[in-house]
Amino acid sequence: MNTDETITTFTGFFRDRGHQLIASSSLLSPPGDPVLFTSAGMHPLTPYLAGKPHPLGRRLTGVQRCLRTTDLDEVGDYSHLTAFQMLGSWSLGDYDGPQSQRWGLELVCDGFGLQRELLYATVFGGDGQVGPDSRAERTWRELGLPVELLGPEDNWWANGPTGPCGPDSELHVWTGDGPPSGTPGTDGRWLELWNHVTMRYERHPDGSLTPLSQQSVDTGMGLERLLMVSQHVRSVYETDLFAPWLSVLPSLWRPDPRSLRILTDHLRSAIVAIGDGVRPSSTGRGYVLRRLLRRALTALWHGDGGSALTLRELPPELVRDTAGRFCQVVESSLVTDVLAAEERKFRELAARGRSLLPRLYPSGRLTEADYEFLRDTHGLPRELVTELLGE
Ligand code: SER
Repeated sequence: MNTDETITTFTGFFRDRGHQLIASSSLLSPPGDPVLFTSAGMHPLTPYLAGKPHPLGRRLTGVQRCLRTTDLDEVGDYSHLTAFQMLGSWSLGDYDGPQSQRWGLELVCDGFGLQRELLYATVFGGDGQVGPDSRAERTWRELGLPVELLGPEDNWWANGPTGPCGPDSELHVWTGDGPPSGTPGTDGRWLELWNHVTMRYERHPDGSLTPLSQQSVDTGMGLERLLMVSQHVRSVYETDLFAPWLSVLPSLWRPDPRSLRILTDHLRSAIVAIGDGVRPSSTGRGYVLRRLLRRALTALWHGDGGSALTLRELPPELVRDTAGRFCQVVESSLVTDVLAAEERKFRELAARGRSLLPRLYPSGRLTEADYEFLRDTHGLPRELVTELLGE
């Protein structure tokens, strides 16, 4: 099943069960939201999860574009992406968590062909404030899945320090060679696939919890991870979704495999952020975009072509493909202009680094304090300094 068929199968499954399709919202979270970017499917629905009636009713489904920067250092591995799409289903005070679990298992097994023997569920095991989620545990066991109980750091969902929150239950899939071993909490080859959150509480500024007026269910599954496991490939980059990038960049820039993944991830993310109106700057969202572009440039110049390579060569069809995938309309010339302007600034910075580093640190050995000084006083990011030292 390719990307389009996967999306249609997901939303179709829920539409057949009375859910209305909602369109993706912007990556820019509403004012007052504790996050810079929409990083989960539920963000645009926060008021409705807190009790406000949704105009389309109590059952919703959709695909939300998301951007997460918490995993930036893991980007380049096989499953972490900065910009991604999240498939979601919501019950706003309608059906309960166990119903969502049952449908979830039915869809991944019968709809997407995952093997039940390769699945493992985790549920909230309780903390000082809320007891273990025994209903979720019992439901997975009745459905024949092994279950691990984990603490709030793994199985509690909160949008931010305050607001709607609750215990969650995550479906994991085995991605290792050979038969499954260990548990999601002990073996990293269990890949987190689909999160089912029962939104039951409101968290207040003093940390206390009060029950929400209605109990809701919020689920989120990363589209790219689902494609990876349902298409039986070893990395999200090997799915059909990334084919346009992986068929063009290797011959264009000849990056090494890790740089190729970083370039693909960061440039896709930059296109989506630019498409939603973000421009590089030294604060907030603009700074995230700047960091993504500078990391992309560092990866680009890391290879044999060195700094003779330029992002101005990014083919317009990759911009169009990405914008289309994330349901945006973006002029490719606008993206190229933003990339070119940021590249110009970064080239000047690299030139400054090349003249400063040998003078300040002739030994080439830098302490943490040196890196901080170069970043804070000269605006030289660590990745660039490391790269320049290796030249
Ligand atoms: N809360 C879900 C998640 O990110 C989606 O809305 O796991």
